[in-house]
Amino acid sequence: MKAIRNLKNVNVRGKYVLLREDFNVQIVDGVIKDFFRIDSALKTIKRLASAGARVVICSHLGRPKGMFVPNLSLRIVAEYLNIPFIDDCLRKDFLPSMKNGDVVLLENLRFYIGEEKNEKSFAKQLAYGFDIYVNDAFAVSHRKAASIVAITKYLPSYAGYLMESEITNLSRLSENPKHPLVAFIGGAKIDTKINLLKKLVGIADKIVVGGAMGTTFNFALGLPVGNSLCEYDKTKVVQKILKLAYKNNCEILLPIDKGVGKVFDKNVKRINCDAGQIADDDVIMDDGKKTTARNIALLKNAKTVIWNGTFGLAEWGKKWGYASFELAKALAHYSKQKKINVIVGGGDTVAALDACGVRKDMGFVSTGGGAFLEFIEGKTLPGIKVLIKK
Ligand code: 3PG
Repeated sequence: MKAIRNLKNVNVRGKYVLLREDFNVQIVDGVIKDFFRIDSALKTIKRLASAGARVVICSHLGRPKGMFVPNLSLRIVAEYLNIPFIDDCLRKDFLPSMKNGDVVLLENLRFYIGEEKNEKSFAKQLAYGFDIYVNDAFAVSHRKAASIVAITKYLPSYAGYLMESEITNLSRLSENPKHPLVAFIGGAKIDTKINLLKKLVGIADKIVVGGAMGTTFNFALGLPVGNSLCEYDKTKVVQKILKLAYKNNCEILLPIDKGVGKVFDKNVKRINCDAGQIADDDVIMDDGKKTTARNIALLKNAKTVIWNGTFGLAEWGKKWGYASFELAKALAHYSKQKKINVIVGGGDTVAALDACGVRKDMGFVSTGGGAFLEFIEGKTLPGIKVLIKK
């Protein structure tokens, strides 16, 4: 990764700093459900404030498509952070009263359509009144948005500490990983993971494909999948990935058993079933016990692990989150002993870590979803490209 402009040696005292964060968090019935992204931003916010900057934070929330949508207001985040809230991201009248070290949060950038369209005129208005722009929003830096890309035309621009940490940790994985490298890839849709798998077969020694995607792989190889979530039309894609893996000397491991029920319901009885024995009326809702034990055994020799995508319906709790939770706990064990550098990314996967209380034990947990995938795939994210030192 090329060097990017960071805040080292930048004097921010008395300066108006426009700080882009990604506070796109899950809010249900007016309650923030996940504080990971907000809390991850605190380092940059605190450091800027204690260095005497006048910090104005901006972010998006959801996809309001240029309209004011009351339940996508960022007011609730300002309340959580206990900082003043400015109800329109283009307001400037509050700036003169800000003192060194003050921090405020602007309303949702996506209430203006110019944000998502990367409009120069919107970026120029947003930049007005500021001295410096800091991008700390790694998780949205795969989007060409005005507050991510166009803004850098109007203000001296730097990466924040969270952004730097994401870049450093994720670059290490693709540029200089310690081997054996084992990748655990789950989730449902193969299309969202094809590029990731193509990249990983080149760097990983083993890839474990699990969850609904593991079911798709098993189906493509002729195994029964019952009445389960499975992409039946992806046989060619699976074959392509398997061939590519073979060429690259990367072993692909698939589920050897599954946790099944007779209906798609979290309260149904869980039965463990070998992958070859799944009945027509079985619904696969998790990877099985043997698969989980095999996955955990792989960790004994691993030096680097990347995990993206859960292996079952972890959001339904312990019963159907067995495969994901057991892996999370085992990873925490090895990571704490510094035996494996564990890198985790993706909203559902991070939620599984949180469900077991082990997020803090991992080597690195990315705040990115789509951005995490694109970064690992080897793409230069538009929001990072504009921060590269010339
Ligand atoms: C995310 O949650 O992945 C980012 O905040 C980007 O959001 P978006 O997919 O709505 O652009």
